[in-house]
Amino acid sequence: MVDSLQDLIQKAAHIIVKSKNLIALTGAGMSAESGIPTFRGENGLWSKYRPEELATPEAFFRNPRFVWEWYAWRIGLVINAKPNPAHKALAELEKMGFLKLTITQNVDNLHERAGTKRLVKLHGDILTARCVSCGYKLHMSEPPKEIPPKCPSCGDIMRPDVVWFGEPLPVKALEKAFEYARRADAIIVVGTSGVVYPAGIIPHVVKNSGGTVIEVNIAESGITEIADIFLKGAAGKVLPELVLEVKRISERT
Ligand code: OAD
Repeated sequence: MVDSLQDLIQKAAHIIVKSKNLIALTGAGMSAESGIPTFRGENGLWSKYRPEELATPEAFFRNPRFVWEWYAWRIGLVINAKPNPAHKALAELEKMGFLKLTITQNVDNLHERAGTKRLVKLHGDILTARCVSCGYKLHMSEPPKEIPPKCPSCGDIMRPDVVWFGEPLPVKALEKAFEYARRADAIIVVGTSGVVYPAGIIPHVVKNSGGTVIEVNIAESGITEIADIFLKGAAGKVLPELVLEVKRISERT
């Protein structure tokens, strides 16, 4: 007999309660219910825009204005978005002491705004601009008025402080993510296609060191094959139910 979603949520909750080193890996699906578009799939950003024209260093230096205009639009979306019940559920799981680290591929700030403190951002931060010459960083609370923005320190142009195709990930963030992954006895993978590396390797690292992979996604992904428990459904619905079940079990024991 096939387990119902409710049964699977219970199984996952028991694993979480027993875990000592639980981590989470999140992707664009996490913020989809906050109105921020994902990258892949029918309505994904990469079905409307070409990544090589918008998300590579070559594209930026060819036409910084064009790239910034796209980022200014996305910055506006992030600023106007609110954390959804999925972000709040992970923050709650951290507050309860179960979730030791959230690793995100998202460049929005919705995990932080939901209250997550133990966070690693693998792909940078869309609300930070970085000088292409001196590295000066500037936090933006609104889309830049001057495009491309100029560095207040040296006057050269600034770029979004995000990771583009062909660029390395921030070293400290990557090291911390993999250190936690090697030690993890369980991982919750939420809303990621799992096809972008090295982030996509993280669930495999957990699995290979004997940990349990719990996946939350509306559809099968590159991770589903190695998932021990696949919770099929929207993160904003499944994660709050999972956390409620964790609470019930931990209050009983
Ligand atoms: P993708 O757009 O590749 O995948 C989004 C995933 O979320 C898919 O598997 C969807 O099925 C799932 N999904 C959509 N809505 C959901 C919901 N409400 N609840 C649960 N799951 C849902 O996004 P990422 O995997 O994050 O990189 O993409 C990885 C990287 O590729 C991004 O960080 C970005 C992109 O190019 C950079 O910008 C460097």
